[in-house]
Amino acid sequence: MGRAAVLAGVGSAVPDNVVTNDMLATRMDTTDEWIRTRTGIRERRHLARGSATSDLAAEAGRRALKSAGVDSVDAVVLATTTPDHPCPATAPAVAAMLGLGTIPAYDVGAVCSGFLYGLASGAGLIALGTAERVLVIGAEAFTTIIDQTDRTTAPIFGDGAGAVVLSAGDQSQPGALLAFDLGSDGDLADLIIIPGGGSRQRASGIPAEPGDEYMAMRGREVFRHAVLRMTESSRAVLARTGWDVDSVDWLVGHQANVRILRAVAEHLGLAQDRAFVNVDRYGNTAAASIPLALDDAAGAGLITPGDRIVLTAFGGGASWGAIALEWPDL
Ligand code: COA
Repeated sequence: MGRAAVLAGVGSAVPDNVVTNDMLATRMDTTDEWIRTRTGIRERRHLARGSATSDLAAEAGRRALKSAGVDSVDAVVLATTTPDHPCPATAPAVAAMLGLGTIPAYDVGAVCSGFLYGLASGAGLIALGTAERVLVIGAEAFTTIIDQTDRTTAPIFGDGAGAVVLSAGDQSQPGALLAFDLGSDGDLADLIIIPGGGSRQRASGIPAEPGDEYMAMRGREVFRHAVLRMTESSRAVLARTGWDVDSVDWLVGHQANVRILRAVAEHLGLAQDRAFVNVDRYGNTAAASIPLALDDAAGAGLITPGDRIVLTAFGGGASWGAIALEWPDL
């Protein structure tokens, strides 16, 4: 059997501060009913001032290391859209906070698909023999890039973090990442974008417009592309593993909108109750959403050892992907 990256531990962390739909409705022209019926979201978490992405990332990482029963890794890969600073990357700070020493640590940016890109990157380090064990984290202080008075984005996004430990093993082991599918389309870069703050704005020499530091999203188009790409990517990993769709126990999709998750399940021919949902409690936590969902589902006893799982996501870039694995006994 070929060398493989095997999931060996999982953990997550969310801020304490719960923000309900009714609380948002006091700040903007929206209602609990609109948000629930259009997105499935009831509440989300907001990180308190004084805390940053690295704090959430380190806590999720600590819990994943504990779950794996290890206190060292050979690399840290952090998927995030909201680094502590534009420069440097946040992963080295997280490695230091966890006392992991002078190991390689770097950030991966693929917005809501970031965790899947992080898993592929970590699995690549293991395949190369550069690392025997990698901590892959998805962490976001996403509410820091959202205009909290904008009803088209504020209800949707929340903060959180999730992490897994990948260990070198072989493909026959439960937890082995069995198939990957990744893609992007830069022609859709403006679907989800922060216009200001980057080199494009500086190169054009135009002062930032007020509000350009916040994320803007063309929601309806994102919805359409997300359903299409998550479905196609999931089909691609099913073809690579040779799994019949009926044998899939859980679709753990990026938690953006319950209607997107239902539509992807329907297009795949998967029963609706096979699509794991926790977007109701956390909103869209971008790169954190898949590991947060995995930890949540495993912690609740929904995902059990031996279950066949398809992870899939779509996000800014545009970028998307899917990964197939069988859940290990953690
Ligand atoms: N409260 C009340 N009304 C709102 C609203 C809110 N928070 N946000 C938008 N509306 C209004 C719109 O102004 C529009 O009004 P109009 O018909 O008078 O123009 C109406 O509701 C419908 O808006 P629309 O954007 O077409 O709704 P939608 O059903 O597409 O739902 C999203 C909007 C954003 C929830 C949905 O498109 C979505 O989830 N998209 C994907 C977002 C996502 O997942 N992003 C991250 C991907 S990684």
